Amino acid sequence: MTMAASDSADAIGEVYIAAKASGPAFEPDDLAFFAEAMRQRAGIILPDTKAALVFRRLAPRVRELGLASFAAYRQRLSNPEDAEWDRVVGQLTTNHSRFFREVHHFKLLSEHLSELMAPGNARVRLWSAACAAGQEPYSMAILLSHLRAKHPVTDARILATDIDRSILVQAEQARYTPEDIGRLPRFARPFVRREADGFSTVAEAPRELVSFKHHNLIGSDWPMRGPFDAIFCRNVLIYLSRADQERVIARLAGLLKVGGLLCLGHSEVARGARLPIRRIDVPSSYVRI
Ligand SMILES: C[S@@+](CC[C@H](N)C(=O)[O-])C[C@H]1O[C@@H](n2cnc3c(N)ncnc32)[C@H](O)[C@@H]1O
Repeated sequence: MTMAASDSADAIGEVYIAAKASGPAFEPDDLAFFAEAMRQRAGIILPDTKAALVFRRLAPRVRELGLASFAAYRQRLSNPEDAEWDRVVGQLTTNHSRFFREVHHFKLLSEHLSELMAPGNARVRLWSAACAAGQEPYSMAILLSHLRAKHPVTDARILATDIDRSILVQAEQARYTPEDIGRLPRFARPFVRREADGFSTVAEAPRELVSFKHHNLIGSDWPMRGPFDAIFCRNVLIYLSRADQERVIARLAGLLKVGGLLCLGHSEVARGARLPIRRIDVPSSYVRI
């Protein structure tokens, strides 16, 4: 059942009423402020329907700072260079991920890598753009480590980037709960070790393949030169405007080797004029032409 516009407006209004009752005070201007900041800083679009999300994710920090209102928090953020902004961006991004998510992309990558890792080709470069807590680049690394047993490749590296600095710190630790890990494919199990405290850690061999770096997909600075054999940029474009999606996809496509793979999230499509990529018969997957 879809919500009628008036139901949705009522639901949004209730967020502000509830905030008045529980504190910290949260007003429509506050939502507009954080929505505009996220648009400028990360390209993320936060419509009015995200009022509850913005309140829920930022209110604990506002309280922790001993502030009575979001207006006071906005004052605290008046310097655009303040490190507190990293926290805001971290809180308002969605980091959900899991190992071997959308497994068809890993099957495709496995076929592509098996061809690439033929004798004589020693170099493999992969990029997980918007890597969250590392589940995606470590899945790539586990696959690569598994394939290396058959096809020795000396020079393999995976770049893993995200805009959220706090999630990158977590990713470096490579420690996951059983829920984060989920059901691993059989070949991956030897590369994940269950610790005495119930957490699981990724083994040294795949970890060594991954370098985590801070990077904003909508920023002008893209220091990576490529070319990459495969880029996964999954479940992040959905948060961006159509114009930003097109710009990002054009830049990603430009960093792929001819024949290289671009995999997007299940509901994401590469749109844009004269892109040097061709859609292939695997969901949300493209190859550089
Ligand atoms: C839902 S997670 C996707 C994780 C993984 N790619 C997957 O599909 O499982 C989205 C990630 O995109 C990151 N993100 C959001 N905006 C970004 C931007 N402008 N540049 C780089 N990363 C961004 C978030 O911090 C978050 O970790």
